[in-house]
Amino acid sequence: MAVDTLKSSRDPETGSATAALLTRQKAHLLPVQSRMLYYGGRPLAVGRARGDWLWDVEGNRYLDFFGGILTVSVGHCNEEVVEATAEQMRTVGHTSTLYLNEITIKVAEKLAEITPGRLQVSFFTNSGTEADEMAIMAARTYTGNRDVISLRHAYSGRSASMMAMTAHSTWRQGGVYDGHIKQVRSPNLYRRPNGMSEEAYLDFLVDDLSDFLATCTDGKIAAFMAEPIQGVGGFAVAPADYFRRVLPLIEEAGGILIIDEVQTAWGRTGRHWCGIEHWGVEPDVMTFAKGIANGAPVGATIMTPEVAESVQALTLSTFGGNPVSMAQAFATISYIERHRLWENAEAQGSRLRARLDALADRHEYVGDVRGMGLMQALEVVAPGTRDPDPARADALLNAARDVGLLLGKGGRYGNTLRIAPMLNVSAESIDEGCGLLDEAAAQVA
Ligand SMILES: Cc1ncc(COP(=O)(O)O)c(C=O)c1O
Repeated sequence: MAVDTLKSSRDPETGSATAALLTRQKAHLLPVQSRMLYYGGRPLAVGRARGDWLWDVEGNRYLDFFGGILTVSVGHCNEEVVEATAEQMRTVGHTSTLYLNEITIKVAEKLAEITPGRLQVSFFTNSGTEADEMAIMAARTYTGNRDVISLRHAYSGRSASMMAMTAHSTWRQGGVYDGHIKQVRSPNLYRRPNGMSEEAYLDFLVDDLSDFLATCTDGKIAAFMAEPIQGVGGFAVAPADYFRRVLPLIEEAGGILIIDEVQTAWGRTGRHWCGIEHWGVEPDVMTFAKGIANGAPVGATIMTPEVAESVQALTLSTFGGNPVSMAQAFATISYIERHRLWENAEAQGSRLRARLDALADRHEYVGDVRGMGLMQALEVVAPGTRDPDPARADALLNAARDVGLLLGKGGRYGNTLRIAPMLNVSAESIDEGCGLLDEAAAQVA
């Protein structure tokens, strides 16, 4: 959108195009959406974007290290994805799943090829919420059990069931919950009890899960679902042995392992296509959304053949597998594959991590640096303590934006800055972004 096209709608008092848009938004969009703009900071109205860069309607330029919440995976307006989308729109835009569409089959074939283990059969929807819903439905039909275990600090979406899976009070609204969905302690090494070794912490988590299964479930479960790195939870990385240790307990309780890769997939964590491959376990079901289609609304649930076979009731998603969004998914995955972007994520992720570690050495208020590949976080605390300091995290987020760097935020206390550049980010952009972050960090010291 050209900045000029907005001249007619500038705020009469301030002359700001952003203010004029905000007034219009407030009149006709859900109020909470306006309160959530830039995490409650100064609203940013998007004009246009390309590659790593985004321009607001006032003409300011930003380096985008959050990519629409880890969704723009191969750069804003990536030429190849745009071309594939336009071509599909000219060919056929929508038919529903009542017909065969080759592009949908091609994406399913590709997912079967690149996901780990025996995952072979996909169901497409429009969001991560629906992908996770399908996973739970399939787990229940396959096992005949109802109880589902998720982790505290997980985020699974905004349907009633997925709010029940989500373990942040701030994201649970409406009070209609599935009583068979229950949360256990999530692994977060930084927040483990004081003085406890990593080994003892892992034992503690496993014992707690074991006790939980014996006391707070039917004794039989349908599934255990987790993100390998909790996204909204603040990029908390599960300990290396975590999934290998919990899997026998899940299997013993008759459950299957569902891994939510909505944020961690497609090379994001470096070296592998999927995040869970770092943990050496094979899920029965995996879910995807966000970065799978560079911004198109696609959710995908991939299952082993036997789990898929158990879903016999009629089920349909009108837009799921829509040819246009599938063309975007196929072009995005092909781009990642051809450029081997999991390697770039590993290389640029290490470069980013080294700069973040150096920043933490300079500023005592950075309590923890964590993440994998191009999914890195800074936890902001009161200097010399582990006490969360969400006010300084906000200040840092806003200072970064003021010097031209867009980041995200999250975590149990809202004190964790989330940094997730595009998978095809260059070393120069990493250096430029880290320079901007250094500048912002010095301002809030
Ligand atoms: C790990 C995870 N799962 C599921 C979802 C829900 O995805 P959507 O917002 O596309 O419904 C999200 C969204 O942030 C997520 O981060």
